[in-house]
Amino acid sequence: MRMQGYPDPGPGLRLHLNENTGGCSPRVLEAIRRVASNEISTYPSYTDLVLACARHFDVNPEWVLLTNGLDEGILMAAVGHIAKARVHDAETIIPLPAFDPYPNATAAVGATAIRVMPDAGFAFPTDEVLRALTPRTRMIFLNTPNNPTGQLISIPDLKRIAAAAPHAIVLIDEAYIEFGGTSFLPELAGYPNVLIGRTFSKAYGLAGMRVGIVIGQPPALDPVRAVTLPFNINAVARAATQAALEDSDFLPRYAAQVHASRERLYAACRRLGLEYWESAANFVLVRVGDPVQIFVAALATHDVHVRDRSKDPATPGCIRITAGVLEHTDAAIAALESVVTSVGRSR
Ligand SMILES: Cc1ncc(COP(=O)(O)O)c(C=O)c1O
Repeated sequence: MRMQGYPDPGPGLRLHLNENTGGCSPRVLEAIRRVASNEISTYPSYTDLVLACARHFDVNPEWVLLTNGLDEGILMAAVGHIAKARVHDAETIIPLPAFDPYPNATAAVGATAIRVMPDAGFAFPTDEVLRALTPRTRMIFLNTPNNPTGQLISIPDLKRIAAAAPHAIVLIDEAYIEFGGTSFLPELAGYPNVLIGRTFSKAYGLAGMRVGIVIGQPPALDPVRAVTLPFNINAVARAATQAALEDSDFLPRYAAQVHASRERLYAACRRLGLEYWESAANFVLVRVGDPVQIFVAALATHDVHVRDRSKDPATPGCIRITAGVLEHTDAAIAALESVVTSVGRSR
């Protein structure tokens, strides 16, 4: 039977979607309990939340668009700048490895994806991206830290690309920036063709609420706003997000757990002889070798779910493991040790 959504792996430790493994702030749950009957029976207004986000990210409120997860922001950026603009020969540039919604949004608006392979060690291929630019380029998807490698794109490289492509929208996806790296936000005033994507799904632990945010100057943001549905965030998610912004202790505490978890995962990989890449995000890419599916299935028998990344041409033989709460990481490492030992024996 064909079902809606992403396949559910069933019970066990969810380390396959880079969620917050510790849940959300208790303040979020309290805010959800306080949602009043008339907030449910009326269409939501976003003014207060937009103002709170603008304060939090230190930008003009007119530069803020709330979206139903950053996923929606990615799709609407493509719809607003390519489909609605009726650009028929549009190209997007997608450095690999890449988050699936970039090629999906490209295909949805009938554009052609120009894929760029990474340099050795997943270093960002800035020169290759610049070489891929054509007069038809309408969007460039840049993801820092990258999912799934955890590698950063430097601010000077982001600037070079944005400056070289004034005819295109540069979407800088910072879904994981709370875990490492420097945001492009302070630079945004100098780049009218840049959109920055952020999400409340990861560091804030609100993946089930579906709230993202696209930030940009009016020339880049208004076409996206024009195609985004007027009531795209529900009243419960709105209350949850407001409360998440108010709990300023939650984020640094969780980020500290993630940093310690990453170190434990690196150490485990070294012990087990697995290649890995140091990550600025809340996950670690590990090369386990083929067949990856068997390795992933073996971990699932230990109730640990990780992501098979072997289908991306840039990450053959790789899995991606979420780094969250330390005790979850320890359980993942125990499962990893057991699987490496048994798979290693049968190879
Ligand atoms: C790179 C990247 N961008 C955007 C998203 C979308 O986040 P959401 O739609 O949950 O806000 C994700 C989620 O996995 C991601 O990995």
